[in-house]
Amino acid sequence: APPIAILSALPQEQRGLIGLLHKPRKLHHASREFWLGELHGQPVVLALSRIGKVAAATTTTALIERFGVRRIVFTGVAGGLGEGVKVGDVVVATDFVQHDLDASPLFPRYEVPLYGKTRFHCDAALSALLFEASSKALAHESLATHGFHDACVHQGLIASGDRFVSSAEESRSLHDLLAGAGHAVLAVEMEGAAVAQVCMDYGIPFAVMRTISDRADDSAHVDFPGFVEAVASRYAHLIIGNFLNL
Ligand code: ADE
Repeated sequence: APPIAILSALPQEQRGLIGLLHKPRKLHHASREFWLGELHGQPVVLALSRIGKVAAATTTTALIERFGVRRIVFTGVAGGLGEGVKVGDVVVATDFVQHDLDASPLFPRYEVPLYGKTRFHCDAALSALLFEASSKALAHESLATHGFHDACVHQGLIASGDRFVSSAEESRSLHDLLAGAGHAVLAVEMEGAAVAQVCMDYGIPFAVMRTISDRADDSAHVDFPGFVEAVASRYAHLIIGNFLNL
């Protein structure tokens, strides 16, 4: 069977997964490290996108062209934008929009030129598995010990762009501008829409889960690194484990 790719942006989000790999093999390609092996009895490739849309597109393309993956699952963190999307919650993406894309007046704001599309959809079946895996993970006691007793799983639109959103003002304006164009966005991050676009080009099913590390507000620059160090890999561990066992 072709391997499934498990993609994260940062090593902290991937930590722990490499240690679980059966028959691990590390390969270098495109200035990146790729870990091949088996996880819960399934062939996988673990990779890092690094940060931002271009870097994510490179890793995604390499996974498909060089490593022959036929499914991609992204696990990482995001800033909460939607009302009620709290630190410790999980968002499973239904689709993606690039909040920093604007070729108006030639094309409508947010539309990806020549694709005739603004929103790129995740695979429904893979996303449903990821949603189930995330719900099970949140019921796990080891997350409660971090204080996330009332964490929940949301499913909906995620916005990606090459900006770390770190003020209440920017986060509100981003949310309201997107809402005004008919896009009710739950969370913001920096890679998902690029993975989505490459996967659509190649016809590769993909799904994304993002744990909320901060609220993309004035304390995001403090909340984000703290969460990424202390909690992110625990979520990844539990959710990916559940996912591969479904
Ligand atoms: N990923 C996690 N938090 C984020 C934020 N506030 N902005 C962009 N990407 C993020």
